[in-house]
Amino acid sequence: MPEIPFPTPGQLDAMAEEGRRMIDARRAKGPDPNSALIWFPPIQAAGLPVPRTMFVEYEPMSLWPICDGQEPRADFPIEKLKQTAALMGYPLFVRTDLASAKHDGPKSYRANSEADLLRCLGRTFEDNACKDIVDFTRCWMLREFLTIGHSFTAFGGLPIGREWRFFADQDGVKCHHFYWPEEAFEKLYNAPRGGAKSWQFSRPNRMPKRCKRFQIWPSRRRELSASTAGVWTLPRMKPGNGG
Ligand SMILES: Nc1ncnc2c1ncn2[C@@H]1O[C@H](COP(=O)(O)OP(=O)(O)O)[C@@H](O)[C@H]1O
Ligand SMILES: [Mg+2]
Repeated sequence: MPEIPFPTPGQLDAMAEEGRRMIDARRAKGPDPNSALIWFPPIQAAGLPVPRTMFVEYEPMSLWPICDGQEPRADFPIEKLKQTAALMGYPLFVRTDLASAKHDGPKSYRANSEADLLRCLGRTFEDNACKDIVDFTRCWMLREFLTIGHSFTAFGGLPIGREWRFFADQDGVKCHHFYWPEEAFEKLYNAPRGGAKSWQFSRPNRMPKRCKRFQIWPSRRRELSASTAGVWTLPRMKPGNGG
């Protein structure tokens, strides 16, 4: 087998610079199409029920040092985040505009206090970094923590609720299905015997009523899809204590 030489430090630096240039070029075009900055305002404006939500902008480069065991850069808006969280009140669901660390357990997304907030920010940043999306995040999203009706939890404590995903475009809803693919629970984590499969299929037609209404909500549907191009997916979930 031909020997592949390991890149020299100079070559590694050049690769890192090239990567940075690509990130900057993409960021200059505006928020990622999957950013909550794009999908959340039309959903809220259409009057659909949403958890109370506040955004705090930041620059991902300001938090990268924590991945090397160092302090965030001075421009990381920690005070603004603490103030916003205090204004909203705890507990809070923490995520970036691109994703949450939902597979990593509540320690990564549920903040009961200011001390938890710092931990959630760090763990969520690391999660988004592992997903290779963190350089495209633009803000933190602090959300009212919902009580989600569920009959089992997965991924170290995430309540698996009656969450449905809708694919829609200007002409209406194309299809919808249970949010979680069955394979997500293959190892069943700490699900009870029977797990996801029995839970999902033993409840035929148990789509939450609000979701059913969404399918026949033409004016709002049009409003939503008009503001976004192409097929769009809208997760819908029923909060509350019921399973
Ligand atoms: N405000 C909230 N309160 C409690 N749990 C939530 C809240 N928002 C989301 N979740 C839970 O976390 C999961 C992931 O949240 P989501 O915002 O969809 O992030 P992602 O883009 O990473 O999927 C959801 O499927 C739901 O189970
Ligand atoms: Mg989701």
